[in-house]
Amino acid sequence: GIDLGKLLATTGYTTLDPGFVNTASTKSAITYIDGEAGILRYRGYPIEQLAQKSTFLEVSYLLIYGELPSATELDKFTDKIRRHTLLHEDLKRFFDGFPRNAHPMPVLSSAINALSAYYQDSLDPDDPEQVELSTIRLLAKLPTIAAYAYKKSVGQPFLYPDNSLNLVENFLRMTFGFPAEPYEVDPEIAKALDMLLILHADHEQNCSTSTVRLVGSSDANLFTSVSGGINALWGPLHGGANQAVLEMLDKIKEEGGTAGDFVKKVKNKEKGVKLMGFGHRVYRNYDPRAAIVKETAHTILGKLGGDDQLLDIAMALEEAALTDDYFIERKLYPNVDFYTGLIYRAMGFPTRMFTVLFAMGRLPGWIAHWREMHEDTTLKIGRPRQIYTGYTERDYKELTTR
Ligand code: ACO
Repeated sequence: GIDLGKLLATTGYTTLDPGFVNTASTKSAITYIDGEAGILRYRGYPIEQLAQKSTFLEVSYLLIYGELPSATELDKFTDKIRRHTLLHEDLKRFFDGFPRNAHPMPVLSSAINALSAYYQDSLDPDDPEQVELSTIRLLAKLPTIAAYAYKKSVGQPFLYPDNSLNLVENFLRMTFGFPAEPYEVDPEIAKALDMLLILHADHEQNCSTSTVRLVGSSDANLFTSVSGGINALWGPLHGGANQAVLEMLDKIKEEGGTAGDFVKKVKNKEKGVKLMGFGHRVYRNYDPRAAIVKETAHTILGKLGGDDQLLDIAMALEEAALTDDYFIERKLYPNVDFYTGLIYRAMGFPTRMFTVLFAMGRLPGWIAHWREMHEDTTLKIGRPRQIYTGYTERDYKELTTR
């Protein structure tokens, strides 16, 4: 076919597409979304099947290497990750420099970026062995870093990883456990968290993944590219929405408001009022991840005794929005973040850790996209053009005459 980009470049034309609403930045064989039909598939496998039957590590393997692993391949992969969960002792001290009330997202992105300083033997994007080593290091160390970011925020001692546990169990223990005290992992919580990580594992060219690709397109290393993705994820219009949803629900509860009152404010477009956890650039029907999460929210809150009032407010908001013309006309439906915060809170995570959990989930997707981009021999640096709207030309004025 015709390479439109090349054609336009030679003709001198430039397309303008704010927010890249209609512009594909790349070809990709990783994740398929049909926004109208509410379909999400990783490497062809429906998200519903993966959420029900697979594990986060298996899905990570699938996304990164393209196929589900055999039992031997999965064992090898798991074992490699297990052997890299420790952080360099000097890197552990890195956390001391942050104020205790620091949000864990900048702590996470800084520590991930710092991996480029501590693990310099795996930075070369053109060396497959180094790329593989940095892949394993990221998958293994990000949960440790995430747990330490939490421990730092509550002023508790760090725990070394216990490699007799699996990735999610280990993360739960490092987050909620204490040194020299036994920690019983609740298998239902571990299973639910593992499933939530699967749901977050990839979502094609979203804001953070596009950031990882753009940073990586300059041949910047994998650690530093992923750190860029974490920063993009933090924004409340993207991954930060899971924190923003809970803050919105808390506020409605504290102020004794009703779902109907809140929806009115949203429709009146009151400054700063949006129905967080609603709407999606691609899904114009429903977000298939949200349907799965809603079910899990009921199960987990039923078991752990979460805040029923907040769940009631969330359900009333959903009901009010889904039956209102404003939302119907704009095709606004709950997205994955609408119910996740309620689950995370019931599990014991503070609100500010929610987006960190999203980052843990999205990591294999970021890695898969970075690697797919580098495997493409036609890789070009990402360098969009612009439509210049400033002055044409004018003469410099001396300071005394301005
Ligand atoms: N609440 C109220 N109105 C909304 C919402 C919302 N959550 N989302 C979109 N709208 C309205 C817009 O105001 C706009 O209305 P208008 O036509 O009258 O101006 C219309 O719906 C279209 O919305 P856009 O902002 O153009 O849609 P876009 O695709 O650019 O934005 C986004 C998508 C950022 C997700 C948006 O829906 C939003 O801000 N949602 C809330 C934040 C959120 O939940 N983000 C998580 C996304 S999923 C994820 O990252 C995991």
